Amino acid sequence: MLKLVGIETYYGKIKALHGVSLEVKEGQLVTILGANGAGKSTILKTISGLVEPEHGTIHFEGKRIDRKDPEEIVAMGIGHVPEWRRIFPELTVEENLKMGGFLLKEKELLFERMEEAFKHFPILEKRKNQKAGNLSGGEQQMLSISRALMIKPKLLLLDEPSLGLSPLLVQEIFAIIKELHQSGVTILLVEQNVNRALSIADYGYVLTTGKIFLSGTYEELLDEEKVREQYLGEGKYIRRSKLWSGG
Ligand SMILES: Nc1ncnc2c1ncn2[C@@H]1O[C@H](COP(=O)(O)OP(=O)(O)O)[C@@H](O)[C@H]1O
Ligand SMILES: [Mg+2]
Repeated sequence: MLKLVGIETYYGKIKALHGVSLEVKEGQLVTILGANGAGKSTILKTISGLVEPEHGTIHFEGKRIDRKDPEEIVAMGIGHVPEWRRIFPELTVEENLKMGGFLLKEKELLFERMEEAFKHFPILEKRKNQKAGNLSGGEQQMLSISRALMIKPKLLLLDEPSLGLSPLLVQEIFAIIKELHQSGVTILLVEQNVNRALSIADYGYVLTTGKIFLSGTYEELLDEEKVREQYLGEGKYIRRSKLWSGG
């Protein structure tokens, strides 16, 4: 469904991605793991067209998308939930959802999708007339995910949805992701929370300083001594590890 081959992305002269190749098959939940600064967000931004790769190709459902505008890519069915749940804090919950559905031409469909979001997240309905900036971190994450779901994406890109949330909310957010996946949405999930991400993923890629360092199923990655010993055994976060930051 999604295929990246040899992607190289720069910020000015700084090379953030050094030839990344990866694949997401329809119906899968694939995770990209890696420390802070490894290039995880850059991969998602390159897929959704927010930054353009210098080299390499990206195909989505057989069509090349690496030279397309972000709006075109959204319209093709790729939803992006950015890092730190970038909602519009001054707008209400309802207005934020409408922004997510900006591509929907029919008003009825917009309201239908909003109702679906409220069914999924009743708390958002209760807060629909409040400014999004006043929501708790977990509620903002639910809003951010709901906003991306307004276009019913075939592929959902999730950038560290658990970042900065309490353990209880992390659990809740991961349950939501699992549910979305089971309802048929294909998901590419970026995480630093290795154990949790791998526990719900079909396949994982490990990124170090802009390169894919390892890939495999949960079991295969468990078999990798380096991964097991340093990151999986005791539920540690990879943020603390030297190896994952390329050191
Ligand atoms: N807008 C930017 N301008 C310049 N450098 C950037 C920018 N965004 C990210 N980088 C750099 O690119 C690298 C990868 O960043 P990023 O994709 O955000 O990593 P991750 O999401 O894994 O933490 C880092 O070295 C980071 O400093
Ligand atoms: Mg990031």
